[in-house]
Amino acid sequence: MSELAQEVGTAARPLAPDPDAWASAAAADLVPDPAYAAGGLLSLTIPADLSAAIPSRARKLSPDEAWMSEALRTAMGTVGLTSPNPTVGCVIVKQGRELARGATEPYGGRHAEQVALARARAVSADLSDAEVFVTLEPCSHQGKQPPCVEAILAARPSRCVVGLIDPDPRVQGRGVAALRRAGIPTTVGVLRRELQHWHMPFLASAELRRPIVIAKWAQTLDGQLCMRDANDGPQSWISGPPSRAYTHWLRQKYDAIVVGAGTVVADRPSLTVRDCASPIHRNPLRIVHDPRGRLLSKGSDALCSLASRDGATVLLRCAEDQPDARGRYCASQAATPPGLQVIEYPAGDALSWLRDEGVIARLSSLLGRPLQSVMVEGGPTFLAALFQRNLVDWAHVFIATAFGGGVEGRIGVRMPPGAGRLHPVASLVLGHDVVVDYAAAQVVDLLARRPAVSDAYAEGGTA
Ligand SMILES: NC(=O)c1ccc[n+]([C@@H]2O[C@H](COP(=O)([O-])OP(=O)(O)OC[C@H]3O[C@@H](n4cnc5c(N)ncnc54)[C@H](OP(=O)(O)O)[C@@H]3O)[C@@H](O)[C@H]2O)c1
Repeated sequence: MSELAQEVGTAARPLAPDPDAWASAAAADLVPDPAYAAGGLLSLTIPADLSAAIPSRARKLSPDEAWMSEALRTAMGTVGLTSPNPTVGCVIVKQGRELARGATEPYGGRHAEQVALARARAVSADLSDAEVFVTLEPCSHQGKQPPCVEAILAARPSRCVVGLIDPDPRVQGRGVAALRRAGIPTTVGVLRRELQHWHMPFLASAELRRPIVIAKWAQTLDGQLCMRDANDGPQSWISGPPSRAYTHWLRQKYDAIVVGAGTVVADRPSLTVRDCASPIHRNPLRIVHDPRGRLLSKGSDALCSLASRDGATVLLRCAEDQPDARGRYCASQAATPPGLQVIEYPAGDALSWLRDEGVIARLSSLLGRPLQSVMVEGGPTFLAALFQRNLVDWAHVFIATAFGGGVEGRIGVRMPPGAGRLHPVASLVLGHDVVVDYAAAQVVDLLARRPAVSDAYAEGGTA
């Protein structure tokens, strides 16, 4: 074990002979307390009038966990604004009472520790008996901001408590090691599971070096995704109000929401953030996956309505002069509704844009920062296509405890040969629904902190 690994307690795990069995065991070790999920502390994501649906904690928190939970609560205040930097929270405690707190500022701004320390200094010049609780390891390198470790060392608190080690190779335990070398006792891993879910887009994209693809859908117990009334009217809700509020919260956590052309026509979605508890309500970048450009060629009121909403809307289609195998593009640019950006990607595989650096760069430029995560709110055909290509990193599945109608519109997931299984990493009961989160084997693998994966991340990272 290296000196650094010994110091921060992140030893290499031995590779199991059966990688699937290893991933299953690692996934079981990721399950958070039911009061937390990818959206953070669930009680903060759902409006108060739906609070009866929020799961209770499985156990009482220790004092360190309670302060770390406060740090997470603080981080949730800047959800969706900081990527590609992690959305970190920091709380400074003196003699058992909160002195100050801070969250990472929008991309390019100060890190959580700097915000919290500046506020703490404003109320107390002497921080020598203070404790610093921070959800992610303080950075130890100069980026757009100075190293947070130096700011902590200058304050000389009596103790630091860190949630997770930062996988950025410029950090990877160096922040914790520097604090310990300077004689500041530092505890690592408090609320580890809960914070792995919260920081997942950052942790996974930092190591995979591409945007993370999250699939989200609501289904009945028998796998039906398309529920219509008896007159074949518009899609009726499958999941209940608490699940829908939580979905809205997740829409602001991730950088972009993707829907297929069929869903735009069938559901006329708004894809805005409306019903969740947060006061922020940041609309995501909206992406319409329409490889044949059929919404443009036919003209679509639903597309016009989507493009008129607050925030940017993009339609992605295969290039006009290179028809894809599934049909020839025939739209005219004159049909482009106001407010809609159309991005063409090279024909071939209709989902190649998810890994196309040129498309990702254009989406990032519309977003104003590097695209770190996309949540696909797909129908059954679209989701099946994603799974068949092994493009799903994480999934939020909302299962209503009701049966659907008919066989059409059901989800069928067929993974390609050689693809690892999706592993359940969280489950909770939200009102009448069960919500299960799944992670792809490689995401389980990197969250379980196998150093070989960390080493693969060579340059770039966050500032
Ligand atoms: N329960 C839920 O969570 C949920 C969520 C969303 C939607 N829905 C329901 O799902 C239904 C629509 O589902 P859907 O999957 O047909 O529509 P969709 O999600 O809108 O996806 C269809 C889009 O995917 C494209 N596509 C189809 N096959 C593909 C492939 N093999 N590779 C790449 N792209 C492909 C289609 O292109 P072409 O146009 O070129 O065929 C179309 O643009 C609606 O009834 C809607 O109400 C349910």
